[in-house]
Amino acid sequence: HVERTFIMIKPDGVQRRLIGEIISRFERKGLKLIAAKLLKVSEEQARAHYAEHAGKPFYPSLIEFITSGPVLAMVWQGVDAIQHGRALIGKTNPLEAAAGTIRGDYGIHTNRNLIHGADSKESAEREIAIYFAPGELVDYELAQ
Ligand code: CMP
Repeated sequence: HVERTFIMIKPDGVQRRLIGEIISRFERKGLKLIAAKLLKVSEEQARAHYAEHAGKPFYPSLIEFITSGPVLAMVWQGVDAIQHGRALIGKTNPLEAAAGTIRGDYGIHTNRNLIHGADSKESAEREIAIYFAPGELVDYELAQ
């Protein structure tokens, strides 16, 4: 079924000029971009986004990193968009991410893994609301 997912190109992906490459992969897959925003993540947004990781050893460095420079926050829509997004991204640990995935092709570090993708419908809705107002999601048709 058609659903929306939240995808963020992290500061390292922006710094490495991988925005175009990453967007291209999502477009070629057949997903539809319905919102995009370049922004610097605030402390408040970072803590809300990564609330489930609070208390974990990597949490402080995760917050520091995600707020360190601009990110590209996006919403992509399509059939099973959440799972397709995660398949394009690859496993969290780049050592486990298969070649052909974004992390497999471009990443070396778990902490600098280029991109984030929502892992469930609930996460997607929660994360979208942290970065976008409802009116910023653009509804339109794409020709095949
Ligand atoms: P992301 O998909 O953005 O979700 C949480 C992030 O925490 C993850 O990508 C990694 O960048 C980072 N992280 C660092 N260490 C770990 C770890 N041991 N397990 C999971 N995520 C980690």
